Amino acid sequence: MLAALFAAPVVTAETRTDPPGPALFPAEEAVIARSVDKRRREFTTVRHCARTALAGLGVPPAPILPGLRGAPIWPPGVVGSMTHCAGFRGCAVAHAGDLRTIGLDAEPADPLPDGVLEAIALPAERDAVLAAAPGVPWDRLLFSAKESVYKAWFPLTHRFLEFSEAHVELDPAGTFTATVLTAHAGEPAGFTGRWLCRDGLLITAIAVPA
Ligand SMILES: CC(C)(COP(=O)(O)OP(=O)(O)OC[C@H]1O[C@@H](n2cnc3c(N)ncnc32)[C@H](O)[C@@H]1OP(=O)(O)O)[C@@H](O)C(=O)NCCC(=O)NCCS
Repeated sequence: MLAALFAAPVVTAETRTDPPGPALFPAEEAVIARSVDKRRREFTTVRHCARTALAGLGVPPAPILPGLRGAPIWPPGVVGSMTHCAGFRGCAVAHAGDLRTIGLDAEPADPLPDGVLEAIALPAERDAVLAAAPGVPWDRLLFSAKESVYKAWFPLTHRFLEFSEAHVELDPAGTFTATVLTAHAGEPAGFTGRWLCRDGLLITAIAVPA
């Protein structure tokens, strides 16, 4: 799936199951010592994906700990993004000399629960979603695109972004654009990304060249 959304020099790894065996570094173990099994499994498997992808960059295995506001701390010289949802764990990484930032989000391809669209969408976004042709859960896709925007945005700015602070336009051809309505000087004014709806999953992806 991720190979359809990212091109070299981005390296990706993904899985739809939690294979037995992958181990965590002690510092990672400490992060999830008190977590429920579901969280342990997604945390462990996505780090297995991350280490597989990092190996593709020639980067040796290393702990990937949550940093400021949960953003992953990548090995020096690496940018990346991770996602996990029911039935999918994935990671995309690149050398920082090639890419400035990456945003990746996966969601089940189901409509959002009642009331969530109103909470996450600007009026124009909600109108576009409600007018779009059936066949894709556009409301969930909008949500995912916004999550990808945040994951690409945060490592660059270290600033939280409300859902109302970016206007996302989804193109049925498989791309999207996001305009950050509140960008300060020096912050990214927007992003472009790609999306995919396949095999029960929605995936959105942003890769910003260095
Ligand atoms: C952080 C957030 C984006 C995660 O998305 P999610 O759909 O809940 O979960 P996913 O499984 O897709 O992604 C989780 C991974 O995102 C990464 N992540 C968490 N916080 C992050 C941050 N601040 N910046 C970048 N990546 C982050 C982590 O790798 C995390 O996995 P881990 O905890 O195992 O390390 C979401 O919980 C959130 O806080 N959203 C509010 C902000 C937002 O989206 N604003 C919209 C602006 S338009």
